[in-house]
Amino acid sequence: MCGIVGYIGNKDAYPILINGLKKLEYRGYDSSGIMLYDKKASVKKAKGKVSDLEVLYKNGKEQKGCIGIGHTRWATHGPPNKINSHPHLSNSGDLSLIHNGIIENYDALKAILSKKGYLFKSETDSEVLVNLIEEVKKTKKVKLGKAVLLALKQVVGAYAIVVFDSTNPTEIVTAKLGSPLAIGVGDSEYYIGSDPSPFLEFTKRCIYLNDHEMAIISLKKGLTLREIKKDSIIDPYIENLKHNIEEVEKGGYAHFMLKEIFEQPQSIKDTFRGRLLSQSLPIKISSIEEHFNKFKSATRIIFISCGTSWHASLLGEYFFEELLRIPVEVEYASEFRYRNPIINKGDIVIPISQSGETADTLAAVKMAKKRGAFLYGICNVVGSSIARETDTGIYTHAGSEIGVASTKAFSCQISLLLLMALDIGNRMNTIEEKRYKRVLKELSNLPETIEKVLSSAKKAESIANKFLKASNFLYLGRGYNFPIALEGALKLKEISYIHAEGYPAAEMKHGPIALIDKNMPVVVIATKKGNYQKVVSNIMEIKAREAEVIAIVSEGDKEIEVIADHFIEIPECDELIAPILANIPLQLLSYYIADKKGCDVDQPRNLAKSVTVE
Ligand code: F6R
Repeated sequence: MCGIVGYIGNKDAYPILINGLKKLEYRGYDSSGIMLYDKKASVKKAKGKVSDLEVLYKNGKEQKGCIGIGHTRWATHGPPNKINSHPHLSNSGDLSLIHNGIIENYDALKAILSKKGYLFKSETDSEVLVNLIEEVKKTKKVKLGKAVLLALKQVVGAYAIVVFDSTNPTEIVTAKLGSPLAIGVGDSEYYIGSDPSPFLEFTKRCIYLNDHEMAIISLKKGLTLREIKKDSIIDPYIENLKHNIEEVEKGGYAHFMLKEIFEQPQSIKDTFRGRLLSQSLPIKISSIEEHFNKFKSATRIIFISCGTSWHASLLGEYFFEELLRIPVEVEYASEFRYRNPIINKGDIVIPISQSGETADTLAAVKMAKKRGAFLYGICNVVGSSIARETDTGIYTHAGSEIGVASTKAFSCQISLLLLMALDIGNRMNTIEEKRYKRVLKELSNLPETIEKVLSSAKKAESIANKFLKASNFLYLGRGYNFPIALEGALKLKEISYIHAEGYPAAEMKHGPIALIDKNMPVVVIATKKGNYQKVVSNIMEIKAREAEVIAIVSEGDKEIEVIADHFIEIPECDELIAPILANIPLQLLSYYIADKKGCDVDQPRNLAKSVTVE
């Protein structure tokens, strides 16, 4: 969490920093701050969003200085207030630092520094780090780069940092372990970002720092990359990014979330490109082709992930066990990494992550790797840490997802999981040919089918209007639709702050039914096929207890349309496709409820897009 930006060059730094912070606000928005250097370093901080910081700079026209750093915070140590905001200054006032991550041994370091007379204004681990660097610089009589390197050797934890020394105002130093950091390379100028979005409009040449690497960026000497542990110089690898800027703009939509919901047909097209060539040609996934023997001989597949990606994993289990007949387990990465799991030779571990940076998933990947598992990653962000840590894998190509609530990335994850399961199942002969062909045909038409589902947006909006005062919701689904019930409930609670729970429909009788009365709206995913008649019975039971039912049904379903209070239709399809479609009206319902309640849809309270702390 937290977004960091930096600039060193010959342009005015302020507009670059403030606009960069706005692009990174999805990473945290509790408070923000900027240090600008123009003959002296000046720091401004504000509690709240980047727009609150912007107010302090009036229109920004007066702001001079061609070097600066900025930070948008997701609070870890200490409440979100001005004092705990970054940049943090060292005791002398010479060094300023921004930090994303957690210094785990900050307490011990703080005690040592306190004994030496250092004073701390904030409750943060980051202020400890900037003073540790100052102490090393002073006692070892070294320049900033060396001081950062030596100080980081004493640090336990995760960091992406940028440090500036106003006694040598021609360079900035940056380093990374665990948290992401990208450097944009321009003509005699450099940009820094937690991801490349702050500098995409200026340069597409990018260096992704690896763990244990630091860069000393000097106006006089250019960029020097060093390995921290070995203290050796390394050659930087400059990537030419293919991202486009429109991806990170709202494009006329009221919110990123709505834009991203409507982008789903295109995102799925992009995810299938080059893989699903046509319904009559074999699926082509090079990482599966190359490692097919691993899948063929796999004794178990373990999915690891968090949040929405965990829901995708759960659906992955249903798809893979059905079509591959290989036992599958689904694990919360945060549990898996701490519970001494059994990993056997022949296990394939599949982490799923939109950001590719989620701290728990990344740590679980590292642990599984150490224990000898074969790691196949499914990530959206190209070049992300999880993508780099895994043995092989596949990208979802959903495009940049800015809205904190995941929508298009989830749809791409589950569509890709089905495509993978079809491909592997077909190669292993564990799927009937007729079924393979039918599902492949439906997958080929998926972007167009999703367009059709999106045309129900108005209906979702009018249903949303009726539930703005609800304080609880129950979401029910069975079989392939059960993970979608969980995802629907998560989407509603995270953006509208309405309490919602997802349950397997049949489990309702084992407890949650006690909650049902006229004040508890129940969303039921009741598509044809699968356990349709049993879900119909569940709806009858709910209606008998006077709750309002919002049903997601297959087109032309007359039976449920009569008993449910509200319904949204999705095209009739194979039961393997139904969850992908059924999820979309639930995204829309959550979006409209949250928006009409006046909630901050794209940046819900307490959340951040990329959870880089555990
Ligand atoms: C919810 C949401 C989160 C993420 C979770 C994992 O809408 O987005 O639950 O799914 O934090 O993030 P990734 O997929 O980046 O590992």
